Amino acid sequence: MSAVNNTKFSLRPCTSDDISLVMDVNETTLPENYPLFFYEQILERYPDSFQLAYLEDDPKKIIGYIMWRIERGPSSFGLDYVKKAHLVSLAVLSEFRRIGVANALLERSMEIVTKYNISEYVLEVRVSNAGAIFLYEKLHRFERIRIIGHYYRDGEDAFYMASKYDLNGSYSFGSTGMTDNEIINYYKEKNQGYLCFRCEKCDSLFLKGLGFSFPGSVSPNDSTTLKCAQCENSFKIYEISQGTYDV
Ligand SMILES: CC(C)(COP(=O)(O)OP(=O)(O)OC[C@H]1O[C@@H](n2cnc3c(N)ncnc32)[C@H](O)[C@@H]1OP(=O)(O)O)[C@@H](O)C(=O)NCCC(=O)NCCS
Ligand SMILES: [Zn+2]
Repeated sequence: MSAVNNTKFSLRPCTSDDISLVMDVNETTLPENYPLFFYEQILERYPDSFQLAYLEDDPKKIIGYIMWRIERGPSSFGLDYVKKAHLVSLAVLSEFRRIGVANALLERSMEIVTKYNISEYVLEVRVSNAGAIFLYEKLHRFERIRIIGHYYRDGEDAFYMASKYDLNGSYSFGSTGMTDNEIINYYKEKNQGYLCFRCEKCDSLFLKGLGFSFPGSVSPNDSTTLKCAQCENSFKIYEISQGTYDV
C-alpha cells in the first residue's frame, strides 16, 4: 500500500485475536489506556470502523490502530441534534511515524463510518499535541470547536475538534472553529497566556502542555531546542518562554 523507507503497510479490520496487540500499541504510545472489555465492546458494536495497520512483510506486526464510536448529540455546526462518529483512539508506533499510517487509518475509517449515517466527526486532542492537530486540521478538515479544561487526568486541556461530513458541499471549512486569537485570549483571560507561543517563521500557534507527561506533545525532546511542528524551524527555549517554559 505504501512504501517509504522500505516500510510497506496495509490496513485491515481488527479481530478479537488482535486486541492484545492493539493494547500493546496503545500502552507504548498514549497515557490514555483502557481495560480489555472496552476494546471488546468497541469491536462488537462498531467492528469495521476499528482498523489496524500492519506490516506487509510481517502481518502479525500491528503498527497502528484507530477506533470510533457512534453517538448522538448537539451539532458543532448548527442547532441540530445529530449523529456523530467520535474518535476514541488513534496511535502509531513511534518507529513507523511520518509515513502516512495515521492518515491512511483516518481516511479508511472515516469512509467506513459514513454507513452509520453520521453527519459529523468529532474528537478530543491534547492542546499541546501539535502533530496530531495538524493531521486532523490540514488533512481531514477538523476545526477546533472549543477547549475542554482539564480534560486529561494529568490536568492538560483538550481541543474538542469537529469535521463536517458534507454531502451537499455547502459547508465552508474554517467558518466555525476557534481562531488562533480566540485561543490566545482564552488563555490570557485565565492568566495562562504563557501556555501559548507562535513560531517566528511560520506564525503557527503552539500550546504548551501542563504536565509534560505526554511524549507526543511539542515539549522539547532535548533540553535546548524545540522544533516547530509545522515548518521545522528550531527555537531556543528562552526565546519562546521568557523564563516560564520549564523543562
Ligand atoms: C499523531 C500520530 C497518530 C500521527 O501518526 P503518523 O502515522 O506519524 O501520521 P502520518 O504519517 O499519517 O502524518 C500525516 C501528516 O500529518 C501531519 N503530522 C503528523 N504527525 C506530525 C508531527 N509530529 N508533526 C507535524 N506534523 C505531523 C503531517 O502533515 C503529516 O504529513 P507529512 O509527514 O507529509 O508532513 C502519531 O504521532 C502518534 O501515534 N502519536 C502518539 C499518539 C497520539 O498522539 N494520538 C492522537 C491522540 S488524539
Ligand atoms: Zn514554524
